[in-house]
Parts: sequence; structure tokens; C-alpha cells
Amino acid sequence: MDVLRTKSIEQSLKDTEDPEFRLKRRLTALDLTVFGVGVIIGAGIFTLTGRVAQANAGPGVVFSFVLAAVCCGLAALCYAEFASTVPVSGSAYTFSYATLGEMIAWIIGWDLLLELMLGASVVAQGWASYFETFLDQIGVSWPSGLGYGDTFNLPAFVLVLVLTALVSYGIKESLRVNLVLVAVKLFIVLFVIVAGIGFIDTDNYHPFVPPSEPVEGGTHWLTTPVLQLVTGSPAAYGVGGVLFAASLVFFAYIGFDVVATTAEEAAHPQRDLPRGIIGSLVICTILYVAVALVITGMVKYDEINPDAALAQAFIDQGKDGYATLISAGAVAGLTTVVMTLIIGAVRVTFAMARDNLLPQVVGHVSQRTGTPVRLTIAIGVVVSIVASLTPVGKLEEMVNIGTLTAFFLVSIAIPILRSKRPDLPRSFKVPASPFLPWLSAAICLFLMVNLTTETWIRFLVWMLIGFVIYFTYGYKNSRVGQGQGEPAPDYSR
Ligand code: ALA
Repeated sequence: MDVLRTKSIEQSLKDTEDPEFRLKRRLTALDLTVFGVGVIIGAGIFTLTGRVAQANAGPGVVFSFVLAAVCCGLAALCYAEFASTVPVSGSAYTFSYATLGEMIAWIIGWDLLLELMLGASVVAQGWASYFETFLDQIGVSWPSGLGYGDTFNLPAFVLVLVLTALVSYGIKESLRVNLVLVAVKLFIVLFVIVAGIGFIDTDNYHPFVPPSEPVEGGTHWLTTPVLQLVTGSPAAYGVGGVLFAASLVFFAYIGFDVVATTAEEAAHPQRDLPRGIIGSLVICTILYVAVALVITGMVKYDEINPDAALAQAFIDQGKDGYATLISAGAVAGLTTVVMTLIIGAVRVTFAMARDNLLPQVVGHVSQRTGTPVRLTIAIGVVVSIVASLTPVGKLEEMVNIGTLTAFFLVSIAIPILRSKRPDLPRSFKVPASPFLPWLSAAICLFLMVNLTTETWIRFLVWMLIGFVIYFTYGYKNSRVGQGQGEPAPDYSR
């Protein structure tokens, strides 16, 4: 059995010329950065910051953001090198197919699906709650019985379906909408920072990292971070709390890697992808640290509203108008995140279907729109169902563990590809390789063991399902397994 067979980079590039699967190359560096910022800033900063500061880290959440940023920054360097070397659709999945072999590529693709589809669902739920806050602020109450709450989240459901339609229509058109919404979102985040600075009370920064204390209501091994369970020190706040918080706020950075999934649609991928990825990450880190400082400075950490921290902080200061503006901006801002995550999920699945690790028929590109319409609709339906039926707050950790696994594998793949294919042109190289890629992998693992035991168990179940699909379908049908270089079969008609 040859689960380590690889797909050559030349073959990956050649496949993108297959008319059945060809995507249009028309995105610029600015498109990519906008795309990055559009997907990175989302539910993480709007909802998670307050929740995590209040329950786990206090103002020390600033350190959590920095640690998560270091993790993402290192992974971003690795992504950028890969993306500039293998500029084809599918992100880490494609990169690893060329280096670590088919099974690892499958694992990464499967993890990315978890990241992107559940990520879109989480953010759609965040969107729905800000939408409700906004309606409240302007004095409109959502008709009870029309699906808010535990049973069926109608607004999240409708949002995802509308966005799916937009994405199916064509990526460039969607990016234009994105540009406007991203501008609104950036304005709101800057507004929170600028308007909030005047309300900071530095007393709220003492203690900056609250001393460790027993978790309220006791701990259950399932909801305790694996590291704390192993070291026998389950507690809130303190250093352990800051680390746990880092593994949670990691969610706020998710998305820069999605830029890499559009490699095949970039006009100059070698030059523009690294710029797009690293640029958007730097912008977001600065904004996050600033927002975290403002919020924990405005409100004592234990009094932060865990659901709508940003809006509530201003309501407490008697600035209701600001709160209305912020919730309106969040509604606009979170829209772009959901859309971009859906695009990413489509691209990864597309690449997997092109390789026939998933049935090829799903990846067919419509001649009219130049996008894989069937696949987009299928993903949109799954996301809308998950977003509308899963309780809020249950999915973030799953998204993080899937993403961290992919980052881990991408990081170790860098030195492997360097030694296997030193000949390939690389317009961007990770400095200090192999040290930085290894450090990146180590930090990813460290954040993973700071996630809870139940997350690990759920993740292992997800992986198990992935292996079953791989060995019953992908392994037998993969194009690489059938012999490289064969023309793609005509399965579309
Ligand atoms: N980083 C994205 C967010 O925070 C997923 O919503």
C-alpha cells in the first residue's frame, strides 16, 4: 500500500491548465490583502476577546493575542514559501501532496475542511447575534418564534444561503462586495480603538495577569485543557489561563491561510501571495492588540460582557449611539468572513475533487461563471445547516485544532520540500530554515495541547471519519494512484 505517494509539483501546475478545472487568474496583490483582512477580522475580535478576557486571562489576553500571532506569523512564513513555490488551488493540501505524500495531504485537506466549514458556521452564528443586538439598538425586536436561540438559527441560515449564491456567481464579483464591507469593518475596529482610548482607566490593568484561581463551579476533565490535566493544575487566569486563552483567540487569526487557497486565481502568485498573506496578518495583529488593550482598559476584566463586549463597553459609558454603530459594523464585517471562509472551503474541496480523492463530479467548473457552482452550493448547504442547528460557542475549539494540525504539517513540510526539491524556484523563502519551521511546528503543538480534552476527542472522531473515506474512496480512485499525467476523465456530462 502506497499512502505516501506524492503528486509532482509540475503535475499540480499542469492540472490547473485542464479546461474542465481551469480557474481564471485575475486577482491582484490588493485583492489578496483585502481578501485576507476580510476573512481574518471577524467573530474572534468582536466576540471572543471579551469572553476570553473575562473568563480566562484578564488583560493578559493581550499576551494571548501576541502568542497566537507569533504562531500564525511563523506558519504564515511557511505558507508564503509554499504558496510562492506551488501556486495552485487548495492551499496546504496541494503543498503537502507534493511533499509529504497523499495520506498526509488528505489529512490536511480534511482538517482544512473542518477549519473552513465550521469556521464559516461559527462566524455566521456570531453575525446572527450582532444582528440581533443591532435590531435591539434601533428598537426593532426580532419576532419570537422566528428562529433565534437554541433550536433553529434562521438569520444564520439565510445569511449563508445568500452568500453561497453570491460566491457561485463569481469570485471577482464577490471580492468587489468584499472590498466595501472590509472598509466598513476596518473603520469600526479603528473606531473602537480611537473612541475607546479616552475611556481607559489604567486601574483596570491591575493585575494585568490575574492570579491563578480555581475554576468556577469546579472542573471536569472533559472541559479542562489537556496540558493542565496532565500537569494536574486546572485553573482559571494565571499563566495557564493566558496560554489557554491563546489557543482560543487563535481563532481570531484564522483566515490568512485562506489567501493561499486562491493561489491559482492570482495574477502574479509568486510575488503577490507572500505580500497578501504577511501583510494582512501584520495589520490584524496590531489591531487586535489595540482592541484588547482598549476593552480591558475600559472595563474591569471580571465585569466584561462575554457576549457583546465591544458594544456593551460603550453602552456602560452612556454611548449607546457608538454601540449601534459598532453592531452595524460587526454585521457588515462578519458577512465578509463567512463569505471568504465558504470560498476557501470550496477551493480546498475543489482541489481534492480534481485529484479524485473526492468524487470528481463535484468539482466541475461552470463555463458561464468560471467557478465550481455545484460544489459551492453543496458546501453552502452544509454550512447553513451546521450554523443554524449547532449551539453557539461549541465549535470554535474544533476549528482551532483542525487549523493548528494543518499549520503543524505545513511547517514540517518546508524543510522536507527544500531537501527534496532544491531546484524549484522560490520567490519567497522562510528565513533561518529549518529552525523557524520547526519552531513553528512546536508552537502549534503547544497551542493544541492547551485545548480541552473534549475537543481532542471530537477531533479524533473527525479524523477517523476522514480515514474511512480515504481508504474506501480516495486511495482507490486518486488520479495519482491511477498513474500520473493521464488526462482528466470527462465526468462532467
Ligand atoms: N478569524 C476569523 C474570525 O475571527 C475566523 O472570525
